[in-house]
Amino acid sequence: MSKTILCIGAGYVGGPTMAVIADNCPEYKVIVGDINAARIKGWQSATLPIYEPGLDAVVKRARGRNLFFTTDIIAGIKEADIIFVSVHTPTKTFGRGAGRAADLQFWEKTARDIVEHAESDKIVVEKSTLPVRTAEAMHRILQSNTKGLNFEVISNPEFMAEGTAIDDLQHPDRVLVGAMSTPSGQEALADVVDIYKHWVPEAKIKTTNVWSSELSKLVSNAMLAQRVSSVNSISALCEKTDANILEVSASMGLDSRIGPKFLSAGVGFGGSCFKKDILNLVYLCEYYGLPEVAAYWEQVIKINDYQQRRFVENIANQMFNTVAGKKIAVFGFAFKADTGDTRESPAIYICRMLLDEHAKLAIHDPQALPYAATDLADCSAAEISYETDPYQAAAGAHAIVVLTDWQEFRQLDYRRIFDLMDKPAFIFDGRNLLEHQKLFDLGFNVFPIGQKALSHFEKTSA
Ligand code: UDX
Ligand code: ADP
Repeated sequence: MSKTILCIGAGYVGGPTMAVIADNCPEYKVIVGDINAARIKGWQSATLPIYEPGLDAVVKRARGRNLFFTTDIIAGIKEADIIFVSVHTPTKTFGRGAGRAADLQFWEKTARDIVEHAESDKIVVEKSTLPVRTAEAMHRILQSNTKGLNFEVISNPEFMAEGTAIDDLQHPDRVLVGAMSTPSGQEALADVVDIYKHWVPEAKIKTTNVWSSELSKLVSNAMLAQRVSSVNSISALCEKTDANILEVSASMGLDSRIGPKFLSAGVGFGGSCFKKDILNLVYLCEYYGLPEVAAYWEQVIKINDYQQRRFVENIANQMFNTVAGKKIAVFGFAFKADTGDTRESPAIYICRMLLDEHAKLAIHDPQALPYAATDLADCSAAEISYETDPYQAAAGAHAIVVLTDWQEFRQLDYRRIFDLMDKPAFIFDGRNLLEHQKLFDLGFNVFPIGQKALSHFEKTSA
């Protein structure tokens, strides 16, 4: 093997990214380390710890050949030439910046582990999303070593999205690599670029200074989230005016300057990145004395919260002003389709609001049920059931609430579901996923997002 790469952190980012690197660079040894022994055991087994379409095949090809998973991070540090740091950087829950700033304790711990155990020069690559200028702190910690070692810090943020991670990694829009302008910084940059050149066309590999690279990642996520909040805010206006958000989004998206992506209205964005990164951006703007800029970006989160509250209020209003004691079937708990991940999923907040209204929930999701049970562990178990069978979830329910855009929900037998439900039967389609007219014709009262409701009650359909 010509080089050894270590990745610290075997999560949603580290695992798939390293699998794709190992798959495309057979002459590099790729070690993925994590302190979580159960997670590592999962990566070594037939059932990987995360669900991601296409991931199994990539891991199978490379594992044991040049891709290895381990809890022995110290040995990995000693052996590696290039170390990717891919630990989580959640929002701080305590002290200064609580609720906004990134909690960098896991990240700093890895820097200190590297300093303690390194026996040769290393290139350290920030893969985790970090506040702009974090590389400076990392460089300082690493250079504090008394062994005479040199460390170069590179920023190489990951832009893959869950559910499409493998395709995003194989065919990225761009790979961003930021480095210091020093000769050794530029040398390190070339080494990291060399990895990606194995499969990414050079025109798509963009090199910048470290700070631009760090900030580009934060702002890319903020801009995507802003599009979702923008369209969600307009969905509220559509519901008041009989304009249709699908038609408005499609019309806007035809403008090549706007483009069609990230214009789907729904119950709001979730996932581990958008909220955390915007909060982080807001905190940074406040820190640098830019309150107007901070307030601008904070509004993106406020609209997201508003959209979820609005959705639940509509459910209660339409169901004769009360959901107390009524069974509600929740279709989808993951934060988006094709993942089992529920981090910051709108479903968590919506289910909690429905439970506050004393609804009884039957939650169905093709992948996310174990996480759903953890996310709602503190709620009354008597009020929630977790159903692997959607028909079982719908049996005796007054309403179906669609919270994730799983395509398989479109294929269900809604005549059978209607027959199983209490009447009148309601569907609140929080993802505009289903065929509303067909459902209405079957007898459902249908409430989409940003579109006219299809109700059999004259008063509400007027
Ligand atoms: C995001 C970024 O897309 C990715 O580049 C970055 O590396 C990590 O964060 P991810 O969170 O995995 O990826 O999913 P994404 O597809 O961006 O969706 C985020 C949320 O926005 C989901 O809850 C999704 O349902 C929602 N969304 C997305 C909408 O509500 N409407 C849309 O039009 C698009
Ligand atoms: P992401 O979505 O950013 O990949 P995850 O939470 O899925 O975030 O993964 C981060 C991983 O980093 C976790 O599996 C966690 O156990 C691991 N981790 C955190 N701190 C350390 C550390 N000091 N050394 C090794 N692994 C760590």
